[in-house]
Amino acid sequence: MKKIVITIDGWSSCGKSTLAKQLAKHLGYVYIDSGAMYRAITLYFLRHHLDWTDVLEVNNALKNIILEFHFNEKSGQSEIYLNGENVEYVIRDLVIAEKVSDVAAIKEVRTFAVAEQQKMGKKKGIVMDGRDIGTTVFPDAALKIFMTADISVRVERRFKEMFEKNPNITIEEVKNNLEMRDYIDSNREVSPLRKAADAIVIDNTNISMEQQLKIALNLLKEI
Ligand code: DC
Repeated sequence: MKKIVITIDGWSSCGKSTLAKQLAKHLGYVYIDSGAMYRAITLYFLRHHLDWTDVLEVNNALKNIILEFHFNEKSGQSEIYLNGENVEYVIRDLVIAEKVSDVAAIKEVRTFAVAEQQKMGKKKGIVMDGRDIGTTVFPDAALKIFMTADISVRVERRFKEMFEKNPNITIEEVKNNLEMRDYIDSNREVSPLRKAADAIVIDNTNISMEQQLKIALNLLKEI
């Protein structure tokens, strides 16, 4: 079968990465988590105490950033490397989550990340999830999905994930962070979170993982 590009966009914590991983595994495609790239850039900026309101500082820092994904046989996942260091787990911290939307709103950061993402999709056979993948990164993608879920379900899922790593975290903190990121992500000037006109909505509030994969595979059959 001809390889295509599949894009999955949507709000924070609404199951995008779960579906993207399921599809990539099922189709033998590469999965790219574009959010991990913005998180890794944020980690670099924080570690270097960068003033990201200064365009010159941002541009200089971006010249020193190399982002790569490598498949980890053990975890069965593709993991992100920042300048040769595996940062897949560090970037999931709340410290990063609190700053990443601000960093992802910077024009120069987006130009850099989008160019990298487009390079990764050149050979097709890719599933990429994020906020602007169907609108800006791959506007010509053959299949575009826009995911959504009730806020209470999203908070619960993200809380469970974060609680495993940090038992001191509260539901309130997780909810505030999700709402803040959704607001910044959908109100920023440069490629805000939007459903592409030709994207198909999957609301996974009340469906199982198996059901959501089935829906996506049916969409694939239709195209
Ligand atoms: O998907 P995530 O929660 O790991 O994404 C982290 C942040 O990165 C999110 O708040 C918005 C931003 N992001 C973005 O602006 N564009 C993307 N394509 C992916 C993520």
